Amino acid sequence: MTDLLDSGERLGRAELEALQLERLRATLHHAYENVDFYRRSFDKAGVHPDDCRSPADLARFPFTVKADLRDQYPFGMFAVDESRIRRIHASSGTTGRPTVVGYTDRDLDTWADVVARSIRAAGGRPGHKVHVAYGYGLFTGGLGAHYGAERLGCTVIPASGGMTSRQVQLIQDFRPEIIMVTPSYMLTLLDEFERQGVDPRSTSLKVGIFGAEPWTEEMRREIEERFAIDAVDIYGLSEVMGPGVAQECVETKDGLHVWEDHFLPEVVDPFTGEVLPDGEEGELIFTSLTKEAMPVIRYRTRDLTRLLPGTARVFRRMEKVTGRSDDMIILRGVNLFPTQIEEIVLRTAGVAPHFQLRLTREGRLDALTVRAEARREATPDQRAEAARAIAAACKDGIGVSVTVEVVDPETLERSVGKIKRLVDLRDTV
Ligand code: DLL
Repeated sequence: MTDLLDSGERLGRAELEALQLERLRATLHHAYENVDFYRRSFDKAGVHPDDCRSPADLARFPFTVKADLRDQYPFGMFAVDESRIRRIHASSGTTGRPTVVGYTDRDLDTWADVVARSIRAAGGRPGHKVHVAYGYGLFTGGLGAHYGAERLGCTVIPASGGMTSRQVQLIQDFRPEIIMVTPSYMLTLLDEFERQGVDPRSTSLKVGIFGAEPWTEEMRREIEERFAIDAVDIYGLSEVMGPGVAQECVETKDGLHVWEDHFLPEVVDPFTGEVLPDGEEGELIFTSLTKEAMPVIRYRTRDLTRLLPGTARVFRRMEKVTGRSDDMIILRGVNLFPTQIEEIVLRTAGVAPHFQLRLTREGRLDALTVRAEARREATPDQRAEAARAIAAACKDGIGVSVTVEVVDPETLERSVGKIKRLVDLRDTV
């Protein structure tokens, strides 16, 4: 394995930290000198790039949040002349303007390198065929995966999302070893395999590289068993680069190695902004170390995780992200994340791994209904028992009372990309 590592992955910890500091200082200067937003925000905070003499000094610099990027719509965060921007991506804003990101030639090169590294860590090798079912377009998933797979020397099948029956056909005919897709869309594919009477365990697939949304160990087990593959986690966000910011190694499956030679992570208390020591859970923050077109300084991801020491690689790991502060539901004073419900539903006999959460208001109190789909073979008694079991596990495990509806098979909407678990009906019902 070690002979396959690239030069960044072979660095010792001390060398890596020296490289990070050098790149951090260069990035702070680049941002300050070329982006009005950063110049103003550093000046306001009374800091200058020269104040960063050690990694700990980064804590003196101000955070950047999504709203800052939106305010600079479309190109205000770019640090290079527009003629040097080779590609633009954007994330669909749920409210108002999208967030726009740009890449120079060198940025695209770096991105392909980190995704190639990610696919290799997942078990991909030159010559493998990679079926990319992340959406192609302004979303970074499809094109990000695509160029990384090509960089590694793989054959890419750019399927994109949707047209599920054709995806199943292509997987059977082209015989890819690797699939890159959201975990929720992988479940949609699973249904389609079964509908077509094809045993999902019989395909050529060996590894699935899943990300773009939170997913649990229970979901990993479900997918690995049903498809007879290894399921590993890939993380990223468009503001920082796209997929390939961090990746789980197939040999350890113990969290995601952050490619720290390009992206410097911190974890902070989400309320006070104070930097937390490694091992403590909080909000993940990233500072880019090599980006030209759109450097980001202390970008607040809203993703909750903790940093852990490296294992299969020299880089630190981040624990699987199981929640975003935005996805948190506060139900009668108890905080809960959709992934906690996922764990419960996937452990319950008689229901399929498809569920939806509906938030309504009863009088002055919020109420949560968990809709889970019955397995085809489940009897009415087993369905009733599953509903009882889910409600009891929510009460005992999370401390919330929920209503559970076990609905007929194939009635809940299927994902074709990122799944939306929560339907908020509080203003309508
Ligand atoms: O989702 C980039 C990506 C594409 C990552 C394909 C992995 C695979 P955005 O659309 O900007 O970018 O959304 C970023 O998605 O802040 C997380 O909340 C969530 N997310 C991404 N990967 C994971 C993951 C892409 N592995 C946002 N686990 C992030 C949990 C994830 N959440």
